[in-house]
Amino acid sequence: MTTIRLATDKDNPQILKISKDLNLYYPTLSLTDFWVAEKGQKIIGMAQLATYGKIAFLSSVGVVKTEQSHGIAKELISKALATTDKDTYLYTVIPDFFKKFGFETTQEKPADLPSKGRYICEECFSYKCVTMIKHAA
Ligand SMILES: CC(C)(COP(=O)(O)OP(=O)(O)OC[C@H]1O[C@@H](n2cnc3c(N)ncnc32)[C@H](O)[C@@H]1OP(=O)(O)O)[C@@H](O)C(=O)NCCC(=O)NCCS
Repeated sequence: MTTIRLATDKDNPQILKISKDLNLYYPTLSLTDFWVAEKGQKIIGMAQLATYGKIAFLSSVGVVKTEQSHGIAKELISKALATTDKDTYLYTVIPDFFKKFGFETTQEKPADLPSKGRYICEECFSYKCVTMIKHAA
């Protein structure tokens, strides 16, 4: 059985390992505001939903390779997004995946949006990296 819950400090080593295994790690990564998917005491997926002023920001969405394609990311993202009443932004190179959750590409850059430099997105296929928004319900 898989449980989706907010992460605690005890999860940090596994979150860091998954970040590195999936190439989602960047040096300024802050291990706060993470949601995790837990199966048999093992963390198999994660997503970070942080608040910056008037917006929410989704990042570090990842599922360990052996557990992909079983709907884990879908559960994680749905549960995390249900906890915010703010417009949610993200940066991604796989927009088609996030379109499934109601995100659309945008050129908007609200004042509270953290810069791409903060997430090292400028170094990761920057030509493919788009900004997306899901408007608050
Ligand atoms: C992208 C990722 C998080 C998906 O996790 P997952 O648990 O396998 O996804 P799910 O099984 O919940 O898939 C949900 C839906 O998205 C689709 N999907 C999965 N990966 C996709 C991709 N790369 N592009 C487009 N659609 C994708 C699935 O087919 C599924 O569609 P359906 O609901 O119509 O059946 C996972 O492949 C991963 O960790 N990748 C490496 C890290 C990464 O690229 N993170 C995003 C960085 S911006």
